[in-house]
Amino acid sequence: MKISVIGCGYLGAVHAAAMASLGHEVVGVDVDEDKVSALKSGRPPFFEPGLSELLVKGRERGSLDFTTDVSQVVDSRVHFVCVGTPQKPGEFAADVTYVDAAVDSLLEHMTSTSVVVGKSTVPVGTAERLAAVLADTGASLMWNPEFLREGHAVEDTLHPNRLVYGVAPGESGHAATAVLDEVYATMLDDETPRMVTDFATAELVKTAANSFLATKISFINAMAELCEASGADVTQLADAIGMDDRIGRKFLNAGLGFGGGCLPKDIRAFMARAGELGADQAVAFLKEIDSINMRRRVRMVDITRDILAGSFIGKKITVLGAAFKPDSDDVRDSPALSVARLIATQGGVVTVTDPQAIDNASRSFPELNYVRDTSAALAGADAVLLLTEWREYRDLDPIATASLVADRILVDGRNVLDPVQWRGAGWTYRALGRP
Ligand code: UDX
Repeated sequence: MKISVIGCGYLGAVHAAAMASLGHEVVGVDVDEDKVSALKSGRPPFFEPGLSELLVKGRERGSLDFTTDVSQVVDSRVHFVCVGTPQKPGEFAADVTYVDAAVDSLLEHMTSTSVVVGKSTVPVGTAERLAAVLADTGASLMWNPEFLREGHAVEDTLHPNRLVYGVAPGESGHAATAVLDEVYATMLDDETPRMVTDFATAELVKTAANSFLATKISFINAMAELCEASGADVTQLADAIGMDDRIGRKFLNAGLGFGGGCLPKDIRAFMARAGELGADQAVAFLKEIDSINMRRRVRMVDITRDILAGSFIGKKITVLGAAFKPDSDDVRDSPALSVARLIATQGGVVTVTDPQAIDNASRSFPELNYVRDTSAALAGADAVLLLTEWREYRDLDPIATASLVADRILVDGRNVLDPVQWRGAGWTYRALGRP
C-alpha cells in the first residue's frame, strides 16, 4: 500500500522505515531539511538500534523516500500523523499545534478513500476535533497510539504487544479498520491482539499506560525514600514484591527516576486535560508522582555532597551517562543532566560522558564539560556518579576504574552495580534507596 508518514522524529522515522520493511511504499515528510537529507541517505538523525539497517534496506529497495514537500503524499492511501506534542512552555498542557498543522497540510490532498491515522500522543478529545476538520474532504480519521520505547523502537513497532484502533462510529469506522488491517496484516498474522475502540478511549489508552508506568517507577522510588529513612534495601524490596505476579518486577527499578520526551510531559498533559474536563481530582495523584520523581534528582545531589564533606567547591565530579535512558541519544528531561547541572551550579567541576548523547547534551547544556572517552572522563575524579545505565558502565571493573580516579567514591544512581564487589575494591559505594 502507498503510505505517507508526516513527521520524521523518533516516532515517524521508525514508523516509516518499519512500514517499508513490511512491503509498503512509504514517503516520510518533515519540515527539517537536514533530517530529510540524512534519512534519504540512510542515516538516522538520532541513535536508535536497528534503524539504520531498516533505512538502508528501504532505500535500496526503492520503497522508502523522504521529502519536505507535502504534496508528495498525493498518491498515498494512508497518512500516519507522527509529529511531536511537546509540553507548552510554562504550562503543563501539551502543544498540539504540530498535529493541527500536519492535518491542515494534508487537507488539499485528501479524497473520500484517504485514511488519516493519528499516532501522536494527544489530549483526549483531539481526534474528534480533527475528524470535524477532515469531514468536508470525505477522508476517514483513526487514532492508533504508539507504545514504542526508545532504544527498542524498531522491535516495538514491528512486534507491538497490542494494536489499538480508535475509530468513528458507523460505516466509516469499519472501512478505516479494514484499511489499517491491510497495513498491519503481517502483525495481525502474528496474532498481535487488536482492539477497536472509540476515539476517546484510544487516546486515553496511551495516556493511561504512560501514567501507570510513571506511577510504578515513582512508587518504587517512594519506597526508596522509606528505605533510606529506615536502613532497608529497595532493590531487595522490589525483587520480593515483584515475585507477586499481580505486581510484577518490570518497571520497578528504583533510582534516579524517569525522564525523556514522553512520561514526564504525558503525565503533566494528562493533569492539564483532566482539569479542562472537570475531572482534575481523578489524576491529582500524578502531581505526587511527578514530585517523587523530581525529588530523586535532588536526593542524588545531596548524597554526593554529603560524602564530599558538605561541599562541591573545586571537586571534580564525573557523570557517567547523559541520555535519559541507555541505548538512546535523547536528552529530553534527562535525569542525568539535571543532576550534572545542579552539581555544577553548586561549584562542582562536572565532566559528563556518554556513548551516544554527547552531541545532543552539549547543544542543550553547553556550560558542562564533555569527554567522549570513558577512561579520560574518569581520570582524576573526586567522585563518580553512574546516572544512565549503559552496558559499558554496568560492566566497569572496580579495580581498573580505581586506578584512574583521584578518590574512590561512587554513587550508583541506577542501582546496577554490585556493592560488595565495589566496596571490596576499596570504593565508598552509595546508591539511592540502599544502605
Ligand atoms: C515510554 C513508554 O515506555 C512507551 O510505551 C511510550 O510509548 C513512550 O514512553 P520511553 O520514554 O522510551 O518509553 O522510555 P521507558 O523505557 O519507558 O523509560 C522511561 C524512563 O523511566 C527512563 O528515564 C528510565 O530510565 C526510567 N525507568 C524505567 C526507571 O527509572 N525505572 C524503571 O524501572 C524503568
